[in-house]
Amino acid sequence: MRLLKNFESYRHDFPALYQEVHGHDLIYFDNAATTLKPMVVINEVMNHYYADTSNVHRGVHTLSERATLKFEAARESVRTFIGAASLSEIVFTSGTTESINLLAHSFGDAFIASEDEIIITAMEHHSNIVPWQLLAQRKGAILKALPMNECGELAWDLLATMITSRTKLLSLTFVSNAIGTINPIKEIIALVRSVAGTKVKVVVDAAQAVAHLPLDVKDLDCDFLVFSGHKVFAATGVGVLYGKEALLESMPPYKGGGHMIRKVSLEKSSFADLPDKFEAGTPAIEGVISLGSALNYLQKIGIENIRTYEEELAAFAEAELSALPFIRVIGKASCKAAIHSFVIEGVHPHDIGTYLDQKGIAIRSGHHCAAPLMEFFGVVATARISFAFYNRLAEIKILRNELIKMWEFFHGQSLSRADLRAQ
Ligand code: ALA
Repeated sequence: MRLLKNFESYRHDFPALYQEVHGHDLIYFDNAATTLKPMVVINEVMNHYYADTSNVHRGVHTLSERATLKFEAARESVRTFIGAASLSEIVFTSGTTESINLLAHSFGDAFIASEDEIIITAMEHHSNIVPWQLLAQRKGAILKALPMNECGELAWDLLATMITSRTKLLSLTFVSNAIGTINPIKEIIALVRSVAGTKVKVVVDAAQAVAHLPLDVKDLDCDFLVFSGHKVFAATGVGVLYGKEALLESMPPYKGGGHMIRKVSLEKSSFADLPDKFEAGTPAIEGVISLGSALNYLQKIGIENIRTYEEELAAFAEAELSALPFIRVIGKASCKAAIHSFVIEGVHPHDIGTYLDQKGIAIRSGHHCAAPLMEFFGVVATARISFAFYNRLAEIKILRNELIKMWEFFHGQSLSRADLRAQ
């Protein structure tokens, strides 16, 4: 009860929640696409522009020094948040997509040769498919996909036979952005280690995990972990690549430019130490600072508390949606995050999204950049609701009632109480 009350009070931190959309109080159920921002984060960004606008790592003047201190403090916040050993292991990028592209280029250039194998999974976001396809094409490498079962759970025991002496990398998501499956990452990495030791490097896409589950890179023993700021209550345009220090040391730069160099002549250049080697050019300074602020904010609430509260939201949503006879839930993994995808016979997911928007409810509809997963489930698109800790059980009730009215609207008939109880 106390937990529920606390979470109710956190809503006050998010000004965007206090608005009407089409005459209804906003219900924001599109958190897997991007999260709303708390006032502490908004204030940090405003303060940067009001008082500290300057470049980082370059000026000796006061504004630049203030901005640099905050920028590097954010790196420390990220390090603590994910349990990394060293600040050298935290590289700022523009987001998950750039982090994976950085890996595909830099790790790919250094360690992937013709006929080498890269394993991804059937539930990946396009950003964890396409960069590896491009790498495989460049190098003549082989890309394999770990399958999943009808519930949307990875058949990860197959890794024991999929991994060969040519396998160099496994890149997989912690949480499916499309159907919410939470993969047992720790067990999967333990299996990889038991089969191949450290010869197969593991990349964890934590974009959908970072705001919802505890992350501890040392405990997971992943080689790389990536995520975006905007999915964890920070600004857009900033993301993180975590990599084990020795690995990052052994990889060449991805982008060339200012700040990533030690020495430049017209003939050749040498490169800066980590993490600067991977941070060419002026970064998204206010974005990085906002990320530090967002993670500090989450630390205060406690990610374990968030997990407990969101489990309650997810279980309630699962029960409410499954009880509607016209809904087909896509993805029924036994361990799911607060992401639910569904389809409704006779109503296109975009129409579901448009109808609900008219009621002030923001959801996402589409293929969620996971076309292979959609194909596996035999759908072209789904409607998706995804929660954050500022969502309420009461909002799920409203959604349920609106879905019933929507079905009746599109089908021109009423559902009786008996229809709704029949399930
Ligand atoms: N990757 C984000 C999503 O799943 C945009 O919605």
